Amino acid sequence: MLSRTAKQTFFALAGPAMRVNGWIYKSLRAPHGGGGVPVRVHLGPGQRAYLDGWINIDANMVTGKCDVWADLRNPLPFGDGTVDAVYSHHMIEHLPDLEGHFKEVHRVLAPGGVYRAGGPNGDSAIRKFTEGDNDWFSDWPDAYDSTGGRFVNFVLCRNEHLTILTQSFLEEIAGRAGFSTMDTMMPVKQTGHPDLFGDCLAKEYETDYETPRTLIMEFQKSPGAGPS
Ligand SMILES: C[S@@+](CC[C@H](N)C(=O)[O-])C[C@H]1O[C@@H](n2cnc3c(N)ncnc32)[C@H](O)[C@@H]1O
Repeated sequence: MLSRTAKQTFFALAGPAMRVNGWIYKSLRAPHGGGGVPVRVHLGPGQRAYLDGWINIDANMVTGKCDVWADLRNPLPFGDGTVDAVYSHHMIEHLPDLEGHFKEVHRVLAPGGVYRAGGPNGDSAIRKFTEGDNDWFSDWPDAYDSTGGRFVNFVLCRNEHLTILTQSFLEEIAGRAGFSTMDTMMPVKQTGHPDLFGDCLAKEYETDYETPRTLIMEFQKSPGAGPS
């Protein structure tokens, strides 16, 4: 795992180039939607989650594989209402402006489009912390003996994570961004939209259905929504 300083340096140095690259992609290559085949965008595939048939976007093209090299802290490189599905898994907790991110996803989605987002499950972690269940927490990236240390390690991940993802928080943020927030919680390996996200499920490595370590939610843009 790269140190926080190394990542900050990378983003400071590569930020302008990623901004230009995102702008070029949006201007010249981004699909305009409505072409019969759903436009699906995967944010932050990392090293092992590249999805065929999706537009995979990441800042890391050194150890990972992506189609568009861009900084997801910037506006998404798509026009308004041009995307049918957006997927992210263990990415949004790295973003400094979660509400701005959800607004951007809402902007690019077509009416009826769906965002499936997952990340470290704060609700589960808080429950396991209060239960003192040290075994639920892993030793990655750091090993601690105390319940508090194991909790911090899970939630903040050596200060890589900038927020704590809980169901009520994400519902509020998504609602503010304009999404419908009905029936948003998804058990691991399940989706309310198999036509859009069926091929993502095989990439999701979580198996702990009882107290999931990953919070997965799906938010739909109102089918009757006008332009954002
Ligand atoms: C923890 S990894 C998750 C990878 C994969 N989605 C998974 O679940 O295994 C987070 C990914 O998000 C990407 N990422 C984080 N912040 C980003 C940003 N600001 N812009 C672009 N990509 C970013 C990282 O490069 C990394 O590939």
